[in-house]
Amino acid sequence: MRHIAIIGTGYVGLVSGSGISDFGHKVICADIAGEKIKMLQAGKMPIYEPGLDELVDRNIKAERLSFSTDVGKTIRDSEVIFISVSTPQSENGEADISAVKAVAKIIGKNLNERKVICTKSTVPIGTGKIVSEIINENKSTETDFEYVSNPEFLREGSAVKDFLWPDRVVIGAESEWAFEIMKDVYRPLYINETPIVHTTVETAELIKYASNAFLSLKISYINEISALCEKVGADVHVVAKAMGSDGRISPKFLHPGPGFGGSCFPKDTSALVSMAQNKNVPMRTIQAAIETNAHQKKRMVKKLQALTGDFSGLTIGILGLAFKSKTDDVRESASLEMVGSLLKAGAQVKAYDPEANTSFAEFYPQITYCKTWEEAVKDTDAVAVMTEWNEFRTMDAKTLKNLMKSPIILDTRNILSRKELQKNGFSFDNVGRPMETK
Ligand SMILES: NC(=O)c1ccc[n+]([C@@H]2O[C@H](COP(=O)([O-])OP(=O)(O)OC[C@H]3O[C@@H](n4cnc5c(N)ncnc54)[C@H](O)[C@@H]3O)[C@@H](O)[C@H]2O)c1
Repeated sequence: MRHIAIIGTGYVGLVSGSGISDFGHKVICADIAGEKIKMLQAGKMPIYEPGLDELVDRNIKAERLSFSTDVGKTIRDSEVIFISVSTPQSENGEADISAVKAVAKIIGKNLNERKVICTKSTVPIGTGKIVSEIINENKSTETDFEYVSNPEFLREGSAVKDFLWPDRVVIGAESEWAFEIMKDVYRPLYINETPIVHTTVETAELIKYASNAFLSLKISYINEISALCEKVGADVHVVAKAMGSDGRISPKFLHPGPGFGGSCFPKDTSALVSMAQNKNVPMRTIQAAIETNAHQKKRMVKKLQALTGDFSGLTIGILGLAFKSKTDDVRESASLEMVGSLLKAGAQVKAYDPEANTSFAEFYPQITYCKTWEEAVKDTDAVAVMTEWNEFRTMDAKTLKNLMKSPIILDTRNILSRKELQKNGFSFDNVGRPMETK
């Protein structure tokens, strides 16, 4: 059993911390956000993530997991320190690593014995060196430490499963001592033969960006194919399925939609392009994926406008605010673009998301938030389905029509039955599928 500190208790830190405590280690999750820590200490979840409450609860009861706002003490009491703070996009497109640097400084000041310092946050290549320098500059004794990069690949919505049963664990460690400790942290996975990729720090840092950028590329690719499908009368779902059957391609991340969002793909693609530019290496494919994505979000607004005409004076129902289902995260969500455009054009917006109403209200407090999809579509001139929540998949076209003022719907996730919409006289559009069904 090892003593572990997780600094930064967000989507990644909380899942990793509770997951590592579930592996049998003693974990303290620390954060400067006092409200968040207070909630966790009171047994409440600050985020929505399926299965996370049970995982947290189980490990608190087993006295393996606790929470603190005292970052310094948490560091002093632990032998492995995970840095999992936010690394948002800065104005110039690069990753802002100021929170990582702030944590490195506190680590330096509290380094009381030889420790493993491990970055889990997604950070630009070379950050390992910067973190090590800051720790060295701030330590008051000759105490040693070893730096490790351990990027995280979990997806919001299935984060618990992704963390406990990952496809691989990447450990960038120059020191054998540190690598052995990290292997021990992940022992249940290691003995289960989960691939552990042991590499240098720089390679580990790059693996994370290369992976996220590639997935973004796949999404933008299928979104562009969907636009072509619309022009030539092909069905993008059949195209994607047949493509995905090819083992070299795989069906994953070939789902057309309103454009990718979330806290990772948009900022990580942008950071990769900036990083490569600084080294005079053009990232043309990733640049194209970013442009396609921005265009796809705008294309959804145009699609809705083509169905309704001028938005001014209309009431539009928005179903889904999170950037994908099973999360309350709205960062870079396609709904932000849609709602922003609607409000700018003078429309009224009624919105519903099973988990993300509160987080979306931080961006747009002025719209009407509803408690059910029925309430959100009632008396609307048109509806846009923006997130693929299961409860929207089972919406009945007849009920929808009865509730709405006019039967107009844009399905940006292709989850509604075209046949049913057609049968009920809807004027509708989707992403890359022919309107007529055979
Ligand atoms: N969210 C994901 O799906 C995901 C997946 C893989 C990797 N990542 C990466 O993991 C990192 C964290 O992402 P996240 O989504 O968990 O972010 P988040 O915003 O949900 O959480 C970050 C937490 O760090 C805390 N924090 C900020 N500065 C701090 C400081 N100086 N000391 C202590 N705590 C501090 C914040 O209060 C917040 O609770 C990012 O680099 C991200 O790119 C995220």
